[in-house]
Amino acid sequence: MVKNVVCLKVPKKQGEQAIDLAIKLGLIDNTLSISSEVDWLGIPLLRQPNDEEIGKLRSNMPSLAVATSSFEEKKQPTKTLIQTLRTLQDKFPPELLPTVPQAFDTIGDIVIIEIPQQLKPYQNLIGGAILQTYKNIKTVLAKAGDISGIYRIRNYIFIAGEQRTNTVHREFGCVYNVDVAKAYFSPRLSHEHMRVASQVKDSEVVVDLFAGIGPFSVLIGKKQPNAKVYAVDLNPEAIDLLKVNIKINKLDNVFPFCADASEITKGKLKGVADRVIMNLPETAIDFVDAACNAIKPSGGVIHFYGFVRLPDTIENLQQSFSDKVKQNNRTVEEFLFAKSVRETAPYESQIVLDVKIK
Ligand SMILES: C[S@@+](CC[C@H](N)C(=O)[O-])C[C@H]1O[C@@H](n2cnc3c(N)ncnc32)[C@H](O)[C@@H]1O
Repeated sequence: MVKNVVCLKVPKKQGEQAIDLAIKLGLIDNTLSISSEVDWLGIPLLRQPNDEEIGKLRSNMPSLAVATSSFEEKKQPTKTLIQTLRTLQDKFPPELLPTVPQAFDTIGDIVIIEIPQQLKPYQNLIGGAILQTYKNIKTVLAKAGDISGIYRIRNYIFIAGEQRTNTVHREFGCVYNVDVAKAYFSPRLSHEHMRVASQVKDSEVVVDLFAGIGPFSVLIGKKQPNAKVYAVDLNPEAIDLLKVNIKINKLDNVFPFCADASEITKGKLKGVADRVIMNLPETAIDFVDAACNAIKPSGGVIHFYGFVRLPDTIENLQQSFSDKVKQNNRTVEEFLFAKSVRETAPYESQIVLDVKIK
């Protein structure tokens, strides 16, 4: 059946970016198929986007248009995990259905899920149901512990599909080789990757102090070919993946360093940066010295990530940050932006501070 609905029209080369953002804004009508013309894609929407949403979409894709067009209904309506498990009534107790997680992370063709204690005896069944429900998923991993250690990684248990932890993930038109057992990566930060990358101006020098496999650095390198990005990480496996990601995204302006952020900013990266990214929320406050060292003597912007656990507040975090900056004989000129990026635990949020430093 064909339906006439409001849609986004975008040049094909920006299709992936438009789809990513429209999904994040909750706009896409998943029951309809995306249409393709010679150079353009038509993306069917559930509703007319509001002015703020159109602003967000156009900020990265100025030629994007909102129109009305006809779209084919998808042949098979997408099933949910719960619906699949309901069909397995002889194996999966229906009274446990309300405890099945509704949300999980998808990285490339891997799903990562947190299995509650009472569902552990059924974890392989749940993994199999995920593979059955989402045909693009090839591997299902269950979290086995918290993100921990200097490299910020966690252990996983294979619960279904191919026994691997590496995959290829796409975000905003960039391609990433990821290995979730070897180096940190979170798709939940994609909005932050784009928000920060969108602020980088032509010819800026950026130091990404805790770069991981490169979701900030690679996107910045791609969006601003005249910018220079120094991407630092202590984890050699993260740097190996970053090197692959620089290559497959065909970048010549991102420079990887396997080094300690504190050390390298006293030497090679001292005073070079217009902008510093500090995504190591657990201990970033201990590296404010490193960020101050990296920023040019004339000043720059720091994107600082930290955790705030109630009853602590964002204001307290700003105060601790300002105190550290002062100890480095620099000054906070202005807090440009301060907000919660995501809830990380009950009563705990990851906070970002964008700060102008003199
Ligand atoms: C939370 S991850 C963030 C990775 C990446 N920015 C992202 O958003 O996916 C923090 C990274 O900091 C790295 N790291 C930890 N201590 C470090 C240090 N002293 N110097 C440089 N990198 C460090 C870890 O290996 C890890 O990859």
